[in-house]
Amino acid sequence: MTRVNLLVDMARGKKTGGYQTLLPHKLKYVSTDDIRRLWRAIKKLEIRGAPAIGIAGAFGIVIGIKRSKARTSDKFFKELQNSSKYLGSSRPTAVNLFWALKRMEKVARDNRLKPVARIKNILLKEALKIIGEDMKSCRRMARFGSKLVRHGSRILTHCNAGGLATADYGTALGVLFESKRQGKSIKVYADETRPLLQGARLTTWELMREGIDTTLICDNMAASLMAKGKIDMIFVGADRIASNGDAANKIGTYSLAVLAKYHKIPFYVVAPLSTFDFNIKTGLEIPIEERSGNEVRGVLGKLIAPKNVKVYNPSFDVTPNRLITAIITEKGIFKRPYSNLTSNLTRLK
Ligand code: MRU
Repeated sequence: MTRVNLLVDMARGKKTGGYQTLLPHKLKYVSTDDIRRLWRAIKKLEIRGAPAIGIAGAFGIVIGIKRSKARTSDKFFKELQNSSKYLGSSRPTAVNLFWALKRMEKVARDNRLKPVARIKNILLKEALKIIGEDMKSCRRMARFGSKLVRHGSRILTHCNAGGLATADYGTALGVLFESKRQGKSIKVYADETRPLLQGARLTTWELMREGIDTTLICDNMAASLMAKGKIDMIFVGADRIASNGDAANKIGTYSLAVLAKYHKIPFYVVAPLSTFDFNIKTGLEIPIEERSGNEVRGVLGKLIAPKNVKVYNPSFDVTPNRLITAIITEKGIFKRPYSNLTSNLTRLK
């Protein structure tokens, strides 16, 4: 099993290509054992969402060294490091990718005295282990988070933090699926999430498949809903959380958090430990991906703005810790202030 099955719905050959453009209307699985194809899948958001990118990175290492003919461990390690560096150059913000790559490198190093064929096998097992752990984390986060949801809660979410972004049923969306499973009747508003519309295309699709009452809104409608008292709580995922609790997530998350503070609405971030970057102190150190201006000039590949208009297209923003009511992890719920977040989380690891 050294091919990677990707839940991607490519618009192959079309100019629009990438970022799951066929969903929600068409579902297609693509299988590959080509590391360059996998890199492209991450870059173009065919595989997207922080935990899913991490898992893709781990399997990227497996397929990267699959055909290695190296006989010496020195040569093998050079090849492995090249694969890791290459995969790490795909997208900079979600720390799960770098977490998985480092973990794979460490496992290989810890087993360096073993024959190369054996190390390859150990790496495959580690990648499968990462999937298994992410599945368990999703379920645990969902159970913890669902304690915050009441019967009749009206919930807002942004981007897609569901099954398409993880190995199981998601982070923020996992909380909603679990609440539904417990019999709570909830109403969910999904931001469409410009520019690539993960909310409109993916989140609504996932929620509706589970029979959850789902309403799609444009990003600029959230404030008015809050002002009308129609939102009780907000759940979002994260791509990288700094030691002080500052959290990077899809662009537009920060503005929701500011609005939530003004309207006194609890704002929750749901993320596994693999999304925490304990090497950085604050969100200021989080690298923010900037993507092609064409994503903003158009909608899913169709040009809507003057083709040479200047564009600013950061893919993520950072929500300061003071705007986050609580962070829900597989280890439990951590509430503001986050002064002991690192020690609490590392102690629980
Ligand atoms: O650019 P994307 O679609 O990869 O961004 C994804 C997000 O921002 C998600 O909210 C985040 O990764 C959490 S996924 C469980």
